[in-house]
Amino acid sequence: MLARNRWFIAAALVYALVGGLVGLAWLADPSLVPGNALRLHAHFMLVGFVGMMIFGVGLHMLPRFTGRSLYSERAADVQFVVTNVGLIAMGAGWLATSTPVVVGGGALLWTGFALFALNVVLTVRPWGRRG
Ligand code: HEM
Ligand code: HEM
Repeated sequence: MLARNRWFIAAALVYALVGGLVGLAWLADPSLVPGNALRLHAHFMLVGFVGMMIFGVGLHMLPRFTGRSLYSERAADVQFVVTNVGLIAMGAGWLATSTPVVVGGGALLWTGFALFALNVVLTVRPWGRRG
């Protein structure tokens, strides 16, 4: 498995642990966590844990299922950076209740999702197959 895909999986586990801690802290005493911490919790769990796990496993498995190389390793490397910077910025923006930071992070995160979508479509494409 490529290092980048291992990093996606490691990042997923870190988001799960951090997101879970934020949820627990909020349960114990909502004043322990600033800003809109539940929104951070929801996105660290759903986009961070579930999403990053899908990215890591998907980028590894889909080329093997289809018998084709991943369309662009470079795009997947860029996706790793922009999805992580984007999600962390969104979380920080929610904690600081700064809408511009959330919007900036959200735009980066969306860009990462778009790169993944393009890369997957071009990898599993039914046209141009040799056999
Ligand atoms: C360590 C495990 C977890 C803890 C301690 C935890 C804790 C919490 C708490 C306390 C809330 C707020 C509930 C309320 O409004 O009264 C919440 C909401 C939520 N949780 Fe978790 N949770 C955990 C795991 C997960 C997982 C695995 C996911 C999804 C993959 C998830 C997704 C959500 C979502 C989407 C919300 C709604 C957020 C909102 O209303 O803004 N949580 N969680
Ligand atoms: C480009 C990526 C994303 C952006 C920019 C984004 C942005 C947002 C924003 C701004 C809200 C708050 C809406 C409000 O003010 O009520 C929200 C809520 C929510 N989003 Fe996302 N989101 C993204 C991806 C996702 C994904 C992939 C999931 C699930 C897999 C998800 C699950 C949720 C849920 C469950 C809520 C409601 C929970 C809450 O109120 O905290 N989001 N999202």
